[in-house]
Amino acid sequence: MSNIKTFPYPVPHAVPIFLAPMAGVSESPFRRLCRAHGADVVVTEFLSAEGIRRENEATLSKLRFSADERTIGVQIFGADPAAMADAAALVTDVFQPEFVDINFGCPVKKVVKRNGGSGCLRDLSLVRDVIKAVSAATHLPVTVKVRSGWNEEMRDPVKIGLVCQDAGARVLTLHARTRTQMYTGKANWDEIAAVAEALDIPVVGNGDIKSPEDVVRMYEHTRASGIMVGRGSFGQPWIFNQARALLDGLPVPETPGVEGRFAVALDHMRMVQEYEVDPDGAAYEFRKHLGWYVKGLFNSADLRKKLHQVTSFSQVEGIFADYLADHSERARVLTGDGERDEVAVDEAA
Ligand SMILES: Cc1cc2nc3c(=O)[nH]c(=O)nc-3n(C[C@H](O)[C@H](O)[C@H](O)COP(=O)(O)O)c2cc1C
Repeated sequence: MSNIKTFPYPVPHAVPIFLAPMAGVSESPFRRLCRAHGADVVVTEFLSAEGIRRENEATLSKLRFSADERTIGVQIFGADPAAMADAAALVTDVFQPEFVDINFGCPVKKVVKRNGGSGCLRDLSLVRDVIKAVSAATHLPVTVKVRSGWNEEMRDPVKIGLVCQDAGARVLTLHARTRTQMYTGKANWDEIAAVAEALDIPVVGNGDIKSPEDVVRMYEHTRASGIMVGRGSFGQPWIFNQARALLDGLPVPETPGVEGRFAVALDHMRMVQEYEVDPDGAAYEFRKHLGWYVKGLFNSADLRKKLHQVTSFSQVEGIFADYLADHSERARVLTGDGERDEVAVDEAA
């Protein structure tokens, strides 16, 4: 393996696999689940620096995490260096993650219009100022997650990477799309390779991993120091253990069958129940995960319809039991590589 660079926080493997920060998905229970299934590093969903600084209750409650999530980074966003510094200081003192990650990738309108997220990529001196201010406010390693640029004209991931590195970023994750692409087109893995080659700090590659095989493909294509999985983890957290085995040349654990999937979904649900203070609201929010877990199963449209109507967690086990009783002979897993393309990301950060 060429290009081994040392991460500034504990990682158990030479090429760690990351769970991507994803608003509304990478919450504490899902992070715990993915860690248990082989994700090496997790990152919180992006949290507003202003919200943290003002100690907004909803924002602070999203900062809660448990010891079994470590190694964990807290991701913050904002375009005011002073607010970002205050937020980083509070996160460091109160929550003590292994690192603080700055979001320079979020494409959502309400964030970029105030220059937050990928909005910063229009002004690299602002990127520099934010990284410097955050680094001065914490003893923790400061890392960044960027896109390849604001638009095609300003597309220059190597330049962006060098600016981040010079300003003090200790790890850079590249989602190799521009802001204007949002989630369309393909992530450009050649750009990940170029940035990994150009920087001295570890570069984590991100974009379009749908299967464990894709993790190996991205690694071989880019020689990135780490690989980050986003939507490919939806409803299949076992992707991490499978990818690890493939990377290490070991036998790949089987994809769980129907009962195995239901068991993982129920494990996940129990973690949500332990974590959430509003069980009914949490059950409503959990519907999307349930839909992902059953995607591709025999007669899944009908099953999904039932799961999308649950109003409390207590209903889920019964729906699974009925499905197994009805389909004990024919139930089978139909998922293929292309199945996960349709995940809706309209409001994704
Ligand atoms: C629902 C959703 C929410 C997201 N929220 C965040 C976020 O809070 N912070 C961030 O840096 N990226 C966020 N992203 C982007 C992902 O971290 C990742 O860069 C992107 O999905 C590409 O990786 P993938 O193709 O493996 O999904 C989000 C993506 C999705 C789909």
